[in-house]
Amino acid sequence: MSRIDSLVAAMTLTEKLGQMTMATGDSAVTGAVMRTGLDAGIASGAIGNVLNIAGADKARAAQRLALESRLKIPLLLGLDIIHGHRTIFPIPLGETAAFDPLLWEATAREAAKEGAADGLHMTFAPMLDVARDPRWGRIAEGSGEDPYVGQAMARAKVKGFQGGRLDGADTLAACAKHYCAYGAPTAGRDYATTDVTPRALREIYLPPFEAALNAGVATVMPAFSSIDGIPLSAHRGLLKDYLRGKLGFDGVIVSDYNAIAELIHHGVAADVVEAAALALKAGIDIDMMANAYHDGLPAALQRGLVTMTDIDTAVRRVLRLKEQLGLFDDPYRRGGVESATVLAARRQLAREAATRSIVLLKNDGAALPLAEGRLAVIGPLADAAGDMRGCWSAAGVASDCVSALAGLRFALPHQSILYAPGVDIESDDESGIAAGAALCDEADAILLCLGESAAMSGEACSRAHPGLPGKQAALVDAVLARAGGKKVIAILFSGRPLVVPDLVARVDAVLAAWAPGCEAGNALADLLTGRASPSARTPVSWPRAVGQIPVFFGERPTGRPASSADHYTSKYLDVPNEPLFPFGHGLTYGDFAYTGLQATPDRAAEADGFTVSVTLTNQGPRAAGETVFLFTRDKVASISRPMELKGFSRITLQPGESGTVSFSLAARDLRFPGPDLEPLYEPGEIEILAGPSADRARLLSATVRLV
Ligand code: BGC
Repeated sequence: MSRIDSLVAAMTLTEKLGQMTMATGDSAVTGAVMRTGLDAGIASGAIGNVLNIAGADKARAAQRLALESRLKIPLLLGLDIIHGHRTIFPIPLGETAAFDPLLWEATAREAAKEGAADGLHMTFAPMLDVARDPRWGRIAEGSGEDPYVGQAMARAKVKGFQGGRLDGADTLAACAKHYCAYGAPTAGRDYATTDVTPRALREIYLPPFEAALNAGVATVMPAFSSIDGIPLSAHRGLLKDYLRGKLGFDGVIVSDYNAIAELIHHGVAADVVEAAALALKAGIDIDMMANAYHDGLPAALQRGLVTMTDIDTAVRRVLRLKEQLGLFDDPYRRGGVESATVLAARRQLAREAATRSIVLLKNDGAALPLAEGRLAVIGPLADAAGDMRGCWSAAGVASDCVSALAGLRFALPHQSILYAPGVDIESDDESGIAAGAALCDEADAILLCLGESAAMSGEACSRAHPGLPGKQAALVDAVLARAGGKKVIAILFSGRPLVVPDLVARVDAVLAAWAPGCEAGNALADLLTGRASPSARTPVSWPRAVGQIPVFFGERPTGRPASSADHYTSKYLDVPNEPLFPFGHGLTYGDFAYTGLQATPDRAAEADGFTVSVTLTNQGPRAAGETVFLFTRDKVASISRPMELKGFSRITLQPGESGTVSFSLAARDLRFPGPDLEPLYEPGEIEILAGPSADRARLLSATVRLV
């Protein structure tokens, strides 16, 4: 008999339900003492999985309790390590802007090492929700608006967290979440229902999850929300039939926090018994924090809503995950002290990731890099070290983080750098504005550090007005009134694209810094001083008005394309259709000319493909890295097709240097879900587009034919 068989045969119902339960360890509790109920639950085998324990000592103490239980089944310990554990990397949306899967993988690898050293086994990441609505605060946790980017991110993160083998002492089981379409809640309101079509699921929301599965992700978490009236925590069609049945996923499905009990609020279960039965029947193995399996499944068994086989199947999956993680062989294999050299290298990676995630949105008159001279650093985010962590900062500590001000002072020790916050991030107090604006008189250039606090994005942080909160706009007015002809540079910190068209129009330069992580200030100083050139690109469109939301590049064509000459076409009366900054937008300190787009051969069959190449010349005065995007558009198809991203690649060129960027494009990758939603290959003309962003006016174009 295998270990799992004999364990399952020996388990009581309570012990089985224990393996299907995840309780919180409340990481705020200090020392080895945890909540009494939790301790007793672990020791009795009634709790087999715990989230939110941080610290190797506490992890070890909890594990010791589990190993004292009757069957000595090791605990599984999980935490939301979303963008770093103690060493905080940029928030995922920011890191996506680097458009470099190797970087994405490297930060996940380091986060896993650091989390594993803290005794953890599992992270609830990556978040793979495609999001096109900046009102939704969790847009910060994902990779933006595009499913192709989402797939690349999924592969990189799963590989990084899991490190190729789950039983490694420095790996974590990853969790693809939140399955699925959680990023499209009604009106951008977190937890609200989604109503997306089966086609949108196949084309937009499911592909990143499929990529995670193909990369071997160990676990999946269903979304809190419902699709088409069915909460994901009870969605047999999408969980059991599609994820498990069609895609063959046999790993652990862990519910979201209390989500099984919330089936009652959703109005699909009358009580916890029904809720537990619905979730189990849909394929959820672990109940996170609802206690619904513990409280409800015994009665569900009696009522005949579930069978012992359903329970055993879930228990086996959980035990198998623990086995794959190596926990039966050595439950203490994770947990240890990392060397100072390892930690220093990780900080260096955090600095590189931050530098590569900050997008230069505007740079009129080469305002950046800064010329030598006195600086006024004004704004509530200038010295906000803790906010640099962004949402979900795991074990990140504010005092580890370098603020913009601290970074500049460190980088420019001999320069006059004056500072005033001017206003708070959110309050209505305007009393500091005059003093803030007055600094302009003493400076040659002004840096405005504006935006959101870390707590304003992430879960439950939807905003109807995703602009500058509090009185920051009044501070901007006062500073601009006082700045005279001096350069004013805005640095925006946020977990989302902010809707700030007026600010953008009135300042000389704008950097979207997102939440850059613990090395924020050093990375910003590198970019502002020109020691590094910005190279990041926004992975999400920046609206010019809230009324444009959702605005994204992959919209299908309409029968009435916008035309100023024709009233009855698809457009607004008051704003252009285009976003303020399109997907992919981002400037560098170089100046790249694109020429000679070639796609060869000019026709290919399904088994073949094309090589697409484009030549770039850096006409600017500085070396810089440029990201090139490859899009396609199926001109005439049985299903109307949007412009689709098919590749991105980066090239670094010295001033005056030219280079060629090439992409392989398989004809198979030009298939799309047909009328039955199965992949369909259709011969016909394909437009190939390459350039610096999704702005069609800036894309070179060629045509090939699928035969
Ligand atoms: C979030 C998940 C997270 C879980 C555990 C929930 O509220 O939606 O993304 O993994 O909490 O912290």
